Amino acid sequence: MQLDGQIAVVTGAASGIGLAIAQSLAEQGARVILSDINPEPLQQAARAMGADFEICDVQSDAQLTQMITGVTQRIGPIDIYVSNAGVLSMDPTHAASTPDDLWQRAWDIHVMSHVRAARILLPDMIARGGGCLINIASAAGMLTQIGDAAYSASKAAAVSFAENLAIRHGDDGIAVHVVCPQYVASPMLGYDNAAPDDLPNDLPDGLITPRDVADAVLQAMADGRVLVLPHAVVGPYFQTRATDHAKWIKGMQGLNRRAKTAQARSASDFSKLV
Ligand SMILES: NC(=O)c1ccc[n+]([C@@H]2O[C@H](COP(=O)([O-])OP(=O)(O)OC[C@H]3O[C@@H](n4cnc5c(N)ncnc54)[C@H](O)[C@@H]3O)[C@@H](O)[C@H]2O)c1
Repeated sequence: MQLDGQIAVVTGAASGIGLAIAQSLAEQGARVILSDINPEPLQQAARAMGADFEICDVQSDAQLTQMITGVTQRIGPIDIYVSNAGVLSMDPTHAASTPDDLWQRAWDIHVMSHVRAARILLPDMIARGGGCLINIASAAGMLTQIGDAAYSASKAAAVSFAENLAIRHGDDGIAVHVVCPQYVASPMLGYDNAAPDDLPNDLPDGLITPRDVADAVLQAMADGRVLVLPHAVVGPYFQTRATDHAKWIKGMQGLNRRAKTAQARSASDFSKLV
């Protein structure tokens, strides 16, 4: 896929999936601008790639607007915009125990940053007859992340918003991709590694690398596919959820029970050590 000279912005690009997508787009010839809230790793990553960077907290409407309009004025109209920044919340105890400010943060980062970016970018993309919006959601948005209700609900809303974009603006030449991976070996899951190619070879079952996600994104761009599922199991699980919801809920309840038992076991193993 040739992206020669296309201008691409990636948020949350200091590490993990965002960095891997930024690298892949650059390898295809795009002029990539890396953006993140975290200045040090962002500058390091941008320096290593020889790319421009923009510090931006996507939770802030003002910063997001300034970043997008700034890039457009200084470098040119944005062809590819990757809304990738994301955070876990993790329910402290029960499913409603995450405090309101973390629900708001999840909503702002996982949903409103996608909405606000599209609001700024769409009029120009429509006028030019093309553009590409890539929104990184999660399999949690399709299947639920046990133990993180704010993450699951906001990612579900992100999937829904991307579907709206694709349905409303396919005829305007806007390519939309919504990316829903399961577990990816990034700093978010404790893989403290900003270089996706340096990850260990013996990843646990089901865990893929940020580079695998980037490969799936580029393939979807080439195929013109909206829903990007880097893990093959997600499609069949989603189908079960749609066609036999009761079976899916039962299966998830079983998973929840197993997760609780494993947690209790690791807590009691720990108590033997101390
Ligand atoms: N790692 C996984 O298992 C997994 C699975 C499915 C989806 N995802 C999603 O993929 C995306 C990338 O996550 P990752 O796994 O690469 O994790 P990561 O922690 O490596 O990357 C997230 C990046 O987002 C940045 N960020 C956080 N809050 C921000 C804000 N307010 N403004 C700007 N930048 C901000 C962080 O500094 C970080 O560089 C996220 O949206 C995440 O929800 C991750």
